[in-house]
Amino acid sequence: MADILSRTISALRQCSPAQKAAQTLALVQDWNEGDIPFAPLGTRPVPPDNPGRPEQLDMVAPGAVPRRRIGTPEGRIALLHAIAHIELNAIDLALDMVARFTHDVALANEDRHSFAKDWLNVAGDEAKHFTLITKRLDELNSHYGAMPVHQGLWEAALNTKNDLAARLAIAPMLLEARGLDVTPKMIERLNSAGDTHSASILGIIYDEEIGHVAKGVHWFNRICVAKKAEPQQYFQSLVREYLPAGLRPPFNHNAREMAGLSAGYYENFLP
Ligand SMILES: [Fe+2]
Ligand SMILES: [Fe+2]
Repeated sequence: MADILSRTISALRQCSPAQKAAQTLALVQDWNEGDIPFAPLGTRPVPPDNPGRPEQLDMVAPGAVPRRRIGTPEGRIALLHAIAHIELNAIDLALDMVARFTHDVALANEDRHSFAKDWLNVAGDEAKHFTLITKRLDELNSHYGAMPVHQGLWEAALNTKNDLAARLAIAPMLLEARGLDVTPKMIERLNSAGDTHSASILGIIYDEEIGHVAKGVHWFNRICVAKKAEPQQYFQSLVREYLPAGLRPPFNHNAREMAGLSAGYYENFLP
């Protein structure tokens, strides 16, 4: 029977976004029901650097993606499309976390199982988010793939593929925390534009993303204990090395605090 790492990699390789979401949800369910064997220690499968994507997807430079004026129906579709793309990348980032790092030297042997469990469950949340947003796009007579997308998010994370602490700093603790900073404003704008349905979907996503940042902080701090590193300084040094422009105000202090990301991690940050 295929073990957890090979099933995770097969979901990463899946090119159809809808199939990837479905495959991920099935994987999480099987895992939580105890139906998938854990990969033996020493198993180091190499996940693909680029996850599966539909062939016809229009990949452009980050600046060339349509702008989003939420007041118009087209602007709302562009916003939801951009969020669908973020959620698709988030599924792959969580799967990649499991496949690439479950047996990483930075983790203690007794932690590997709960590490894999945490990030598989994050992948399941992201698959749910992707599905909610793409259903909403359908209702608005659009679909994922109708607009150009960019690789910026994936590339920022891929740069950290050789360093688990850096991956945690950049993906959950910087990029996903950035989502917490910007989402309340989007919800407010969608509500003022009368699109309460899309706003409520973003509300669900927002609540669950706090948990993802919290998992990032938890595992990062655990590695800091093992390395005898001071978490806030180490976090800032990794951000400086991998994505200095990514850490910028305004910050959502409340949500960050709920995730365990206290202001000392990100305030007074000098790139
Ligand atoms: Fe998400
Ligand atoms: Fe997330």
